Amino acid sequence: MPPMAPPTLALLSLWAVLAACSAQDDPIGALTPSDLEAARQTPQGVFNVSAVTWNPYRDAVMDVNVTGPVASGDWIRVSFSGIPFPDPHGKDWVALYVPGDADPAEVSPVKYRNAKHAEGYMDTGAGSLDFILENHRDTMRFYFMRKAPGEPFVAAKSPLIQLANPNAPMQVHLALTANHSEMKIQWVTKDTGSPAVEWGTSPGHYTSRSKATSTTYTRDDMCGPPANTTGFIDPGVFHAATVTGVKPLEQIYYRVGDEVSGYGPEHSFIAPPLPAASSSVIFAVLGDMGQSEVDKSNEPYQLDASLETSSRLEADDDLQLVLHIGDLGYACGYVAQWDRFYAQLQPIISRVPYMTCPGNHERDYPNSGDRWGSSHSSGGECGVAYARRQQMPRPGDDKMWYSFDFGPIHFS
Ligand SMILES: *[C@@H]1O[C@H](CO)[C@@H](O)[C@H](O)[C@H]1NC(C)=O
Ligand SMILES: *[C@@H]1O[C@H](CO)[C@@H](O)[C@H](O)[C@H]1NC(C)=O
Ligand SMILES: *[C@@H]1O[C@H](CO)[C@@H](O)[C@H](O)[C@H]1NC(C)=O
Ligand SMILES: *[C@@H]1O[C@H](CO)[C@@H](O)[C@H](O)[C@H]1NC(C)=O
Ligand SMILES: [Fe+2]
Repeated sequence: MPPMAPPTLALLSLWAVLAACSAQDDPIGALTPSDLEAARQTPQGVFNVSAVTWNPYRDAVMDVNVTGPVASGDWIRVSFSGIPFPDPHGKDWVALYVPGDADPAEVSPVKYRNAKHAEGYMDTGAGSLDFILENHRDTMRFYFMRKAPGEPFVAAKSPLIQLANPNAPMQVHLALTANHSEMKIQWVTKDTGSPAVEWGTSPGHYTSRSKATSTTYTRDDMCGPPANTTGFIDPGVFHAATVTGVKPLEQIYYRVGDEVSGYGPEHSFIAPPLPAASSSVIFAVLGDMGQSEVDKSNEPYQLDASLETSSRLEADDDLQLVLHIGDLGYACGYVAQWDRFYAQLQPIISRVPYMTCPGNHERDYPNSGDRWGSSHSSGGECGVAYARRQQMPRPGDDKMWYSFDFGPIHFS
């Protein structure tokens, strides 16, 4: 991102924002139901949840290599054996479910790997696969599914996996407000509690504190499936608190959390520059990024290029601002995909402001008041999940436009 003349940058970004917020890149409402299913671009979208039946094998065993509670980012090894020989085939899946007592005939797996990728599995009916775990604010369990994805049945299940702290602050991200001496911090926990941000100008030394406001959404706030059916798990509570009174370009150290459940680790950001024609800023503009899994799960639909994008941004120490101008994580109705998306971006957007607007994959759904009428692109979220998660300086929840100044640039 070489610095360019400010007026050109402003013009480019304006065009990009307009394009992403109003263009409909995949009018899937016009396609057949099976095209539509494929177009949802989520791993869960290919899985026929209502077809799942129970047929546990007497000799099948599924186990995990942890006995205690786990935390976000922990790796786990799932082993399985006793699949009758010579039956092992490419339609056997190891699938993760949240919560651990979820009925797999009601809710989609959070993610899965094909058992054939376990060394030796196709020859022996036994093997193991590694997964990375996320804090989805609830217990988890692995199921061994056969004949997936079309006519799946449960052949074995793992022990229940507990989370160390369902209220550990997750999904920390920043946003500019209309005031250059402020920064809005947003994060997610399981319960409401009494959340706050604490900050100061030296590490570990928090001299100021601001209480958060909290909001959430329920299944009934969604406009249709899969957001209100197989994609729904409790999204937790979305907190927002504002750091105030910061000086331009001052480094701020902060942490978010709650006296009862504890505070999360320290993060840091550089306060916004003053609007000034003579300065320069370095920012990135993203659209259509999506998310992916580092553990190779969700094979058919992972958007691998997103890992390239996020790791480059993470390594860029000069970055001051990220604009994401539509189609953020392609969660498309699956709460767990939002969780994964923020886990991937948190190292970046907890240190630079992340200014977003919704794309068709956040907003569009028939009969929900969007511009297009027949598009199912948001998977039933109809902009509600986006609005609660990304509290931008906008006039209202379904009035997603706003403008702001950052250094020499007016973004609108
Ligand atoms: C999903 O399963 C249900 C119940 O078995 C069945 O009626 C339906 O045809 C299946 N859908 C697909 C796309 O396979
Ligand atoms: C479980 O397996 C994972 C993946 O191989 C490994 O990273 C982790 O250290 C193991 N945990 C324990 C408690 O052995
Ligand atoms: C999901 O939304 C659709 C459309 O509003 C509605 O018909 C259906 O009953 C809802 N399902 C659930 C489980 O809430
Ligand atoms: C910006 O916020 C500060 C407190 O952080 C306040 O003193 C100031 O009046 C605000 N400025 C505007 C223009 O609202
Ligand atoms: Fe898109």
